[in-house]
Amino acid sequence: MNDVVKLSRLGSLEKLSARLEALGIELPLDAEVEPEGPLAAPLRVAGRTLGNRFAVLPMEGWDAGGDGRPSDLVRRRWQRFGASGAKLVWGGEAYAIEPEGRANPHQLCHNPSSARDLAELYALLIRSHERHCVGSDDLLVGLQLTHSGRFCRPAGVPAPRTGFRHPVLDARVGISDDSALLGDAELDDLVGAYARVAGLARDAGFDFVDVKACHGYLGHELLSARERPGAYGGDLAGRSRFLLRAIEAVRREAPELVVGVRLSTFDLHPFHPDVAGVGVPEPSEHQPFGGSVDGLGVDLAETHQLLEALADAGVAMVCTTAGSPYYNPHAQRPALYPPSDGYRPPEDPLVGVARQLAATRELKQRHPRLCFVGSAYTYLQEWLPNVAQAALRQRGADAIGLGRMMLSYPEMPRDVLAGEPLERRRVCRTFSDCTTAPRNGLVSGCYPLDAFYKRRPESAALAEAKQRAKRAAS
Ligand SMILES: Cc1cc2nc3c(=O)[nH]c(=O)nc-3n(C[C@H](O)[C@H](O)[C@H](O)COP(=O)(O)O)c2cc1C
Repeated sequence: MNDVVKLSRLGSLEKLSARLEALGIELPLDAEVEPEGPLAAPLRVAGRTLGNRFAVLPMEGWDAGGDGRPSDLVRRRWQRFGASGAKLVWGGEAYAIEPEGRANPHQLCHNPSSARDLAELYALLIRSHERHCVGSDDLLVGLQLTHSGRFCRPAGVPAPRTGFRHPVLDARVGISDDSALLGDAELDDLVGAYARVAGLARDAGFDFVDVKACHGYLGHELLSARERPGAYGGDLAGRSRFLLRAIEAVRREAPELVVGVRLSTFDLHPFHPDVAGVGVPEPSEHQPFGGSVDGLGVDLAETHQLLEALADAGVAMVCTTAGSPYYNPHAQRPALYPPSDGYRPPEDPLVGVARQLAATRELKQRHPRLCFVGSAYTYLQEWLPNVAQAALRQRGADAIGLGRMMLSYPEMPRDVLAGEPLERRRVCRTFSDCTTAPRNGLVSGCYPLDAFYKRRPESAALAEAKQRAKRAAS
């Protein structure tokens, strides 16, 4: 791999610091982690006090029933989220506001049993938390509301609904004419669907909903719909109108709920593998949201403007992320090993981590009305607690979100806060099997490190799919 050094080979803080210097990047890094230090400090948000600074990021499993109802695998995952010790559960996983808005046929979605199912999932998570942690009064739990837009696949094949004609991404989802474009009236209707599901989440006991605007899905795609005419495109006011109307509708329907937004704070051009399998950008005239004009760098000018509008609209919390797992996964979830449909890292994954942490820090420092949950820490592996603590200390985030680490080692927050040594064999090494499995129609989970998934029949199917991908690439 070009210029990539395995983190597990950097056995000391000095070596990690030297590597960061060689890469020309900065990461906050504390030599010692204090169990009762910044990670254990309470967090005030929207009139509530949370018990610590760890957050569970939304992690979908591609394992709901075809009717959008939770399965035992979904329930297991939510119980593990509750047991993690984190006092913020950001969204659980993407919950589609209507069945057609699912990114796969096994995503949770609005259905006639939603009210009962959401109440059951919420109660399971709370009970699990109370079994492993002291009380749940200081726990905040949300549901992530989504419409997959361009990446809808409710029946397992692309059924995109888009905000505009994208010069590169249209071809990737089989679009050759205007028929996938959502009209303004259709977007108006979807605003109502967000509000309806938010009402159900409130009734089920959730504290907040996340009106999702990240990863290339509808709420995010529209933020860069410069070419779109009419109410939902053009200038930033038009491009953010859908998101702001959905937030307004949610607040009207369920004023008791705290509102959060998971935002791709910046985006880059889509990438694809070159002849050697390494990721290279596929440039176009389209300027990504939060990206520079050439689509290769970060420019947060519009992100700052949007965050002020979100705070004015009553949003209390923002969970920062970047790019999209479909077209630039190295920017979204830095990993040493790519998913089967991805590409080898075009940069040391530490660069991707540093890019997200720097963006979150800049945004947090300029928007004191909002609480910021950071993402993309998992690649840091054993160094995660050292970087997380330093990020909090340096006011680079208010809480630290964990994604992939929650699948392999959900008790990491509990162990860190108890001052226990980390269980190294459970630390996520970013093999990307949790992404490769669903790309091949299999349930997601941590196949390399969670014995529960290792033993499942899908494990053999996953190994075969990886072999097939390897053969196809060679
Ligand atoms: C298997 C898998 C499922 C994911 N599901 C969601 C999701 O439902 N909603 C979402 O906003 N992000 C989702 N993400 C992104 C993560 O929340 C997170 O942003 C990403 O993994 C980077 O954080 P990490 O470095 O801690 O893993 C998913 C990531 C993975 C690997």
